[in-house]
Amino acid sequence: MKKYPNLSKTCTIRGVTYRNRIFSTPTGLTYPDEYSGAPDFRTVLFYEKKARGGAASVNYGETPVNNVDAVRRPNVDVIRPDFSRMILPAKDWIKFTDAIHRHGANPCVQLAHAGLFAEPFFNGASTGKVIGPVEMDKENGTHVTAMDEEDMARIAGDFAEAALCAVQSGFNQVMVQCCHGWLLAQFLSPAWNTRTDEYGGSIENRAKFPLQVLRAVREKVGPRVVIQIRISGDEHQKNGWTLDDCIAFCKMTDGIVDIIEISSGDYHNSEHYCWVNPLMGHFVNIPIAKALKEAGVQARLTAVGGHNDPAKMDQLIGEGVIDFFSIGRGILADPDLPKKFLCGREEDVKPCIRCSDCMAGLYTGYYQCNINPAAGQEAYLLGTPAPKARKKVVVVGGGVGGMEAAITAFDRGHDVTLVEKGDKLGGTLLFADHGHKEDLRKLKDYYVRQIEKRDIKVMLGTEADTALMDQLHPTDIIVASGSTHRVLGVPGVENAKYATAAYFEPETIGNKVVLIGGGMINCEIAVSLADEGKDVTIIELLDGTARDANMFIKPTLDELFAQRAESIHVITEAATKSISENSVTYTDKDGNEFEVPADTVLYAVGSIPNSAVVDELREWPDWESFRAIGDCTGAGIVKKAIHQGYFAAMDIL
Ligand SMILES: Cc1cc2nc3c(=O)[nH]c(=O)nc-3n(C[C@H](O)[C@H](O)[C@H](O)COP(=O)(O)OP(=O)(O)OC[C@H]3O[C@@H](n4cnc5c(N)ncnc54)[C@H](O)[C@@H]3O)c2cc1C
Ligand SMILES: Cc1cc2nc3c(=O)[nH]c(=O)nc-3n(C[C@H](O)[C@H](O)[C@H](O)COP(=O)(O)O)c2cc1C
Ligand code: SF4
Repeated sequence: MKKYPNLSKTCTIRGVTYRNRIFSTPTGLTYPDEYSGAPDFRTVLFYEKKARGGAASVNYGETPVNNVDAVRRPNVDVIRPDFSRMILPAKDWIKFTDAIHRHGANPCVQLAHAGLFAEPFFNGASTGKVIGPVEMDKENGTHVTAMDEEDMARIAGDFAEAALCAVQSGFNQVMVQCCHGWLLAQFLSPAWNTRTDEYGGSIENRAKFPLQVLRAVREKVGPRVVIQIRISGDEHQKNGWTLDDCIAFCKMTDGIVDIIEISSGDYHNSEHYCWVNPLMGHFVNIPIAKALKEAGVQARLTAVGGHNDPAKMDQLIGEGVIDFFSIGRGILADPDLPKKFLCGREEDVKPCIRCSDCMAGLYTGYYQCNINPAAGQEAYLLGTPAPKARKKVVVVGGGVGGMEAAITAFDRGHDVTLVEKGDKLGGTLLFADHGHKEDLRKLKDYYVRQIEKRDIKVMLGTEADTALMDQLHPTDIIVASGSTHRVLGVPGVENAKYATAAYFEPETIGNKVVLIGGGMINCEIAVSLADEGKDVTIIELLDGTARDANMFIKPTLDELFAQRAESIHVITEAATKSISENSVTYTDKDGNEFEVPADTVLYAVGSIPNSAVVDELREWPDWESFRAIGDCTGAGIVKKAIHQGYFAAMDIL
């Protein structure tokens, strides 16, 4: 008997068979061809890995339905032909769908229209007009024209044509984007749709145009194609779409739509609900699935939202709460997640830490995953030569950087010794054994397990130096010696502790806590101390807190701080002057001095690289290659340590 029989069960809808209950939902690291906009070979290689990894369905992601008024950003793929430029995208999309089919998965594409967020500049055939449910002037000065029935008929036709092009390109499943604040959600949501005609007001009216689109798509693709929609369970925005709206609308789609994928949030106001982060829960949309089932919605249900536990997934399917599970970032972090879940090897899944830097990367240009350095780099992997010899590798430092380097070097066939001066592997992340940073703890534990599973020689309690190199005589050295926190340079610092005392010695933390330094480390500690009933004051030199948080985590943190406003006090543009046994003195930007009472003072004001061992070992004369990686080259985040560890090991040839 399978460990997870419900998760492993096949399901056939309209003649399309799903080999299990795990969908890979869009986390597109896509590289559209510069001329045609169709997916190029790097994109195909990336998605093929998801299909090979065992998902039942692999969703390509957002694809505009026209290039007149649907496109919102430069790097997206249009699926319809552009005869004026002799672009026939089907031939490129077939390369994509073939790559999914040949591994037994079903390819799906998400058809979308950005509505009032479209950018004429990115629409090759733009008339200059931006359309939406209501007439308005946006903050950036763009005028939005309210759609009339002619526009609605045209856009419904665009969705239908795009769906047909998708089917002709080998997709047997199409997803219509009805959430996250794009055009159909703009009609559905009372926050965006304030029309007073028959397309606004009641949910029946707001649903009219989206239903027109869905009917047009069904009519065009016929009965043998699976239509999926993505819907928000709750927009979490003022006057926004609620669960009641969601239930009513989903019932209206009965008979047209086969699968409903539940997400939450709105891209423009409550984006952090679209991809939950470590400050939020897992399985966040399951209550919505339950409510839809209870209301008798006929379509099969799936959901996104940090699904990381196959036992729970199996149980929920078994209980009839949901039919499939969609996973986005988890599969980006480890494309083999479905296979590993299904054969009960979840301990081998590299767990996504939900940092959402992959998503932030779509805006900064870093199409990367923090913990999976190979994601999106499939072309690099093709070009990397296999090692010519089995080298003798010594890795110094058993943090995530060193462990990644050791695992990668071992898996490439080398003889690897990992040297760690502490009595455990884990490095800086050992703090996560205590307290709330569960995602990071799971990542650290994954690495430790993977080291244990391999024939890597681990020397704990051993400080690396040149004498040790004389003894081990490696050909290649990777140093990942990490960093040490910077000691705050103010009088009375002996009355304070480094911030991780909140994790390692929680029993020593008093009721009134002052945190010096307003970066992410202290902000996260502030939330957890406030939840323990403590009164917390953050003193920060600059003019804001959590400046090192990305654009998705920051709004969550702001929300958590606002909810705890009575117990978390933030003082910015304030210079700490001194610390006593029971208070902290600081000056504000005008030089006025204040004193804050404190039972406990913690600080986090940066780190200093452990570079002495790097300098020492670099001088050892017999190495063939030498690399320093991770925090010992300047404190960073796990991405830096893991990526540098991986690529350094790949360079040992
Ligand atoms: C409180 C806190 C919260 C954080 N939260 C996040 C987060 O949410 N997301 C994120 O991405 N990053 C976070 N970070 C940063 C992240 O933990 C580090 O960037 C990462 O762990 C660095 O990994 P590393 O392998 O380079 O070094 P480390 O993990 O520091 O490992 C270095 C290892 O080298 C060993 N060593 C040193 N010298 C020698 C020697 N001579 N011989 C043998 N061994 C030696 C040390 O004992 C240590 O085990 C956080 C850091 C802190 C302190
Ligand atoms: C890099 C990246 C790209 C994404 N692209 C899309 C997209 O094109 N369309 C969409 O509806 N959601 C997109 N998402 C959201 C995911 O499909 C998914 O809903 C989200 O990551 C939450 O699910 P998870 O917790 O399993 O990651 C993207 C997410 C990421 C991280
Ligand atoms: S680890 Fe971070 S970057 Fe990687 S998939 Fe998860 S959220 Fe995205």
